[in-house]
Amino acid sequence: MSKEKIHGALPDPSEKELTVKTMFDRIAPRYDIMNRLITFGLDVIWRRKTVEELKPTPGGRILDVACGTGDLCRTLRAAETKPIGLDLSRGMLASFNSKAPLINGDALKMPFMDSSLDGVTCGFALRNFTDIRPFLQEVSRILKSGSRLAILEVDKPKNVFIRLGHSLYFNKVVPVIGKIFSDKEAYQYLPRSTVYLPVENELIEMIKTEGFSDVRKMKLTGGIAQLLIARKEN
Ligand SMILES: C[S@@+](CC[C@H](N)C(=O)[O-])C[C@H]1O[C@@H](n2cnc3c(N)ncnc32)[C@H](O)[C@@H]1O
Repeated sequence: MSKEKIHGALPDPSEKELTVKTMFDRIAPRYDIMNRLITFGLDVIWRRKTVEELKPTPGGRILDVACGTGDLCRTLRAAETKPIGLDLSRGMLASFNSKAPLINGDALKMPFMDSSLDGVTCGFALRNFTDIRPFLQEVSRILKSGSRLAILEVDKPKNVFIRLGHSLYFNKVVPVIGKIFSDKEAYQYLPRSTVYLPVENELIEMIKTEGFSDVRKMKLTGGIAQLLIARKEN
């Protein structure tokens, strides 16, 4: 998939997986610095909150789906768990900055036995998958009963003023920062890709129908990010 196809439009569904993979391969070397820059370091706080709310047991095997360069795995290790990272992009895995074991694989078809994991995290990746329901079905299959899933994602703030300011920043300023430090087309795609996210209740309902209970959504930093926590039913 060429840069031209990302620019100005979202990829065709049949090409999304390859487009996303190629794009992350390309932006991997500067991915971490861009995250810190465009979120003013808030992403570090959101990841800590994600692991805190997952409430993992020390020593537990936690899968970080779409682990990218490993920030969530690092936070999971700091919480004394045993994380495993899985990602589609070899480029992102080559820039991995933690010590967890890694799998180059697809979130929609994961190489784990049924009920074999003590927790799953997934940061800023949901909107990059070609479909969300098969991902939730896979997570439901591989999690042990009673263990938790934590999904961290961007969100649209409800407050009209925050929403306007955020939209301007995300859609206009972030691509400029991307152009200077990394890749303009990729950082144009990232804000646009939020259209792939189901609306609030739809996503919560989807999680519930795939075998989870106690599903709750937390708004982070005025609602510019969201954290969804769910417990695998018995
Ligand atoms: C925005 S990055 C997030 C990386 C990391 N989770 C973080 O919090 O920084 C999205 C990641 O999702 C990965 N990804 C996209 N589609 C995937 C899939 N189907 N299976 C596994 N990983 C995927 C990309 O390669 C990329 O590393």
